[in-house]
Amino acid sequence: MIIEPRMRGFICLTAQPKGSEQSVKNQIEYVKSKGTIAGAKKVLVIGASTGFGLASRITSAFGSDAATIGVFFEKEASEGKTASPGWYNSAAFENEAHKAGLYAKSINGDAFSNEVKRQTLDLIKADLGQVDLIIYSLASPVRLNPNTGVLHRSVLKPIGQTFTNKTVDFHTGKVSEVSIEPCNEEDIVNTVAVMGGEDWAMWIDALKAENLLAEGATTVAYSYIGPSLTEAVYRKGTIGRAKDHLEATAFTISDSLADINGKAYVSVNKALVTQASSAIPVIPLYISLLYKIMKEKGIHEGCIEQIQRLYQQRLYTGEPMITDEKGRIRVDDWEMREDVQSQVAALWEQATTENLAEIGDLEGYRNDFYNLFGFGFDGVDYKADTNELVKVPSIS
Ligand code: NAD
Ligand code: NA
Repeated sequence: MIIEPRMRGFICLTAQPKGSEQSVKNQIEYVKSKGTIAGAKKVLVIGASTGFGLASRITSAFGSDAATIGVFFEKEASEGKTASPGWYNSAAFENEAHKAGLYAKSINGDAFSNEVKRQTLDLIKADLGQVDLIIYSLASPVRLNPNTGVLHRSVLKPIGQTFTNKTVDFHTGKVSEVSIEPCNEEDIVNTVAVMGGEDWAMWIDALKAENLLAEGATTVAYSYIGPSLTEAVYRKGTIGRAKDHLEATAFTISDSLADINGKAYVSVNKALVTQASSAIPVIPLYISLLYKIMKEKGIHEGCIEQIQRLYQQRLYTGEPMITDEKGRIRVDDWEMREDVQSQVAALWEQATTENLAEIGDLEGYRNDFYNLFGFGFDGVDYKADTNELVKVPSIS
C-alpha cells in the first residue's frame, strides 16, 4: 500500500518502513564515519527501538562491532495497518547488523514484566553468556509493577503551583499560553514508579543474580535537566522527581556491582524531538528555539550524534570518567552553554505565532517529527507501493 502520515493530535498513526530503514541506514553511516570505538562487545539495550535507545544499539553495533540484544514494546503490522515506527527501525537494524556479520536479536514485550526479563536472561545465557554494557532507555507513560500488581501512570505536571507559560502547537505553528495545574502526592509517586530507577535496578539485580554481568560491566540510563524556562514542568515537576530517583539509583546500582567492578551511570542528554518529548507542553517551543540557535552555531545534534559522542568522548576514552558534581555524565553540555541559553531565553520573550517560523526552527521540528515515523527522507520513493508487513528477523 501507499503509506501516508495520518495524524491524530500529537501522534502519527502510520509509519513508513522504507523511510525507517533509511533513517537506520543514515545513523549507521554516521557512526561508521566517526571511526571505531573501543567499547563493549556484548550489549543489552532496554528501549532499543527508537530515540536514544536505538541510537545506542546502532553505536554499539557499528562503532564497536558489538553483539546486541534489543528489548522494546512495539506493534507489528496487521493487514492494512502499519507497524509502529520502532518495529520497522528494529527490522532494518537487524537486517543491517546481520549483513555486517553481527549478532542481533530482539525481544518485543513489556520490559517492566518478569516474563520479558526472564526471556532476556535466557537469551543472554544461551547466546552471549554475559553482557558488558546495559543501556536503559525506556520512555513509557505506564508501568505495571510485576511484584505488587499496581498499574502506575506517569503525569507531566508542576509540583505545588499552577504553571503558566507559552507553548506551540508545532503542526499549526500557533503560539498560545498554557496553564498546567499542579499534581497531587499520588501523581509524584506514580511518575517515580514509572520513570524512576526501580525497574532499572530490578533489571541489573536479575542479571547479576544469574551471573550474566561480565567483570567491569557498565550500565547507563538517560536523564534530562534543561533550562529554567521549562523547570516548573520538567525538572522540578513530577518527571523531574522521577529523574532524581533514576540518578540516585545509579549510586545504589554501582554499590551493588562493586564486587565485579561494575558501574552505573546516568547520562544527561540534550532535548530532542522524540515521541515522548512531543507530548510535553512548553518543550516543543523550547526545542524549536534551541534548534535554531544550535544550528546557527553549528553545534546541533540528533540522537545518533549525541550517543556517538557519549560513547567515543565519555564512556570509552580510556581515561577516567568525567562527571558533574552529582556524578552524572553530561552530553547536554552544548545545549546548556551560557551563550546558547541566553539567546534562547531572549527569543522566548519575543516568540509569537506570527514570528516563530522565522525566529525559531519550526520546520526543523516538524521534519524531525515526521522522520520519527519514517516520513520525509531523501532517497525514499514515498509514492511507491510499499509492503507494510515487514518482519523483524529474530522475532518472526
Ligand atoms: P522513545 O520514546 O524514543 O523510546 C522509548 C523506548 O522505550 C522505545 O524503544 C520503546 O519501544 C521502549 N518502551 C516503552 N515502553 C516499553 C515497555 N513497557 N517495555 C519495553 N519497551 C518499552 O524515547 P527517548 O526520547 O529516546 O527516551 C529514552 C530516555 O531518554 C528516557 O529516559 C528519556 O527521559 C531520556 N531523555 C530524552 C530526551 C529527549 O529530549 N527526548 C532528552 C534527555 C533524556
Ligand atoms: Na529510546
